Amino acid sequence: MIVILDFGSQYSELIARRIRETQVYSEVLSYRTTIEQLKKLNPAGIILSGGPSSVYDAGAPQCDPGIWQLGIPVMGVCYGMQLMVQQLGGGVERAERGEYGKASIAIDDPTDLLTNVDPGSTMWMSHGDSVTDMPDGFELLAHTDNTPCAAIANHTQKFYGVQFHPEVVHSIGGQAMIRNFVYHICECQPTWTTEAFVDEAVREVRARVGDKRVLLALSGGVDSSTLAFLLHRAIGSQLTCMFIDQGFMRKGEPERLMKLFKDQFHISVEYVMARERFIGAIAGVDDPEQKRKIIGHEFIRVFEEESKRLGPFDYLAQGTLYPDVIESADTNVDPKTGERVAVKIKSHHNVGGLPKDLQFKLIEPLRKLFKDEVRNVGRSIDLPEEIVNRQPFPGPGLAIRILGPVDDEKLNILRDADLIVRQEINKAGLYNDIWQAFAVLLPVRSVGVMGDQRTYAYPIVLRIVSSEDGMTADWARIPYDLMEIISNRIVNEVDGVNRVVYDITSKPPGTIEWE
Ligand code: XMP
Repeated sequence: MIVILDFGSQYSELIARRIRETQVYSEVLSYRTTIEQLKKLNPAGIILSGGPSSVYDAGAPQCDPGIWQLGIPVMGVCYGMQLMVQQLGGGVERAERGEYGKASIAIDDPTDLLTNVDPGSTMWMSHGDSVTDMPDGFELLAHTDNTPCAAIANHTQKFYGVQFHPEVVHSIGGQAMIRNFVYHICECQPTWTTEAFVDEAVREVRARVGDKRVLLALSGGVDSSTLAFLLHRAIGSQLTCMFIDQGFMRKGEPERLMKLFKDQFHISVEYVMARERFIGAIAGVDDPEQKRKIIGHEFIRVFEEESKRLGPFDYLAQGTLYPDVIESADTNVDPKTGERVAVKIKSHHNVGGLPKDLQFKLIEPLRKLFKDEVRNVGRSIDLPEEIVNRQPFPGPGLAIRILGPVDDEKLNILRDADLIVRQEINKAGLYNDIWQAFAVLLPVRSVGVMGDQRTYAYPIVLRIVSSEDGMTADWARIPYDLMEIISNRIVNEVDGVNRVVYDITSKPPGTIEWE
């Protein structure tokens, strides 16, 4: 295992993902991790991440200097390199000119860390401070026009420092460096594979659960579907899957999900028909937050009732993923109060969002995985691509894509329009390039003309965005011809719609969903 000590860099998670791409397991831990904790983990190597501080700032984050005596390879990236240099007695200063963006590296020593990295390779730089004096025992591996020490090494002790970010895609040869570090320097074996994960997860679940019963709320997404499969393999009929049909899924989705589990996986799922309850609970509700809260509460009520009916259960399985559990540096701390700051924009609800006081012990077999790793596990167990690659879909579903009060008529209109959007985006081969593509129904009506008839009907908004992680997004520049096909089909095929508009707002200031 390779441990990444996080000093608040936006790229720490990315380093972990790049290492895992080499089939070596890697974890992100806080820079405050103690030597005792590190020794227990017994990593083959440590990476010190970048970070927003300067090593000379008062209170700049420091790792325990004991790591230099552990006798294992360490690589510092950006801030991590500067910290290494400072702790080992070298010099770091504010550079005359910072370096931001792409820089071409000249290689002084093409062996070791830089094996298979071409001279002149572009690397991604983002720093204001620079190493001016290498600690004793260090040698220069590479420099750039603005940065005399772009990569350095103490070959004897296996300490390495790079000023650039090998983990970002713009760094050509960055992945080769990571492979060199992981395989040649830390001497790791490629043991982190999908098959190995599945075997280990199955073993762990069996050992933990024994002969007890586990409940899983299935949502139809890749996380809960993969989880259901894993748990079923581990404990068979001790697992009960429950699918609560709130009535806000897309056209045909509940039926397809039930059929898939029954026919292909031979896993029985308790189907809970709750459509009327949910639509009744939000009838006439206009305010988006109110709507989200009511749906969330109703979900918990139905869940509690049904788990009592089907239970008792000892464990509740949840599809928690690694990004939710990363123990990273507290970069969002309010300097005055010392409290973590999080600005709430919307109340999120999903099947994982159950209250903590439910009488279950949690079981979370996916908590080590990134989303793309869950997808790989999903593929390895033959989950169909439509689930493996499903675009994100909010817990409250179509209810937050109908602005204002929701009723059956509007749900039917939106389901039909949404299906056309998905079909055409798929047909154009764009589904996997786009973060989300969906329809939103506005509760206003406008005048149109069809045949010789005046129409007075709803508009559909096309919301099609590209994004890396849903935190920021841009409207997708899909071809006009495709817009035309979607617009024509919706207006012609969906009763109650006479106008289609394209949302050209990025996030921020817009959000992806409309409510
Ligand atoms: P916004 O609209 O805040 O959405 O830009 C960001 C991403 O989150 C999804 N989303 C949700 N996911 N439960 C979820 O599981 C929710 O309540 C929820 N609301 C929004 C949204 O689809 C987008 O991908």
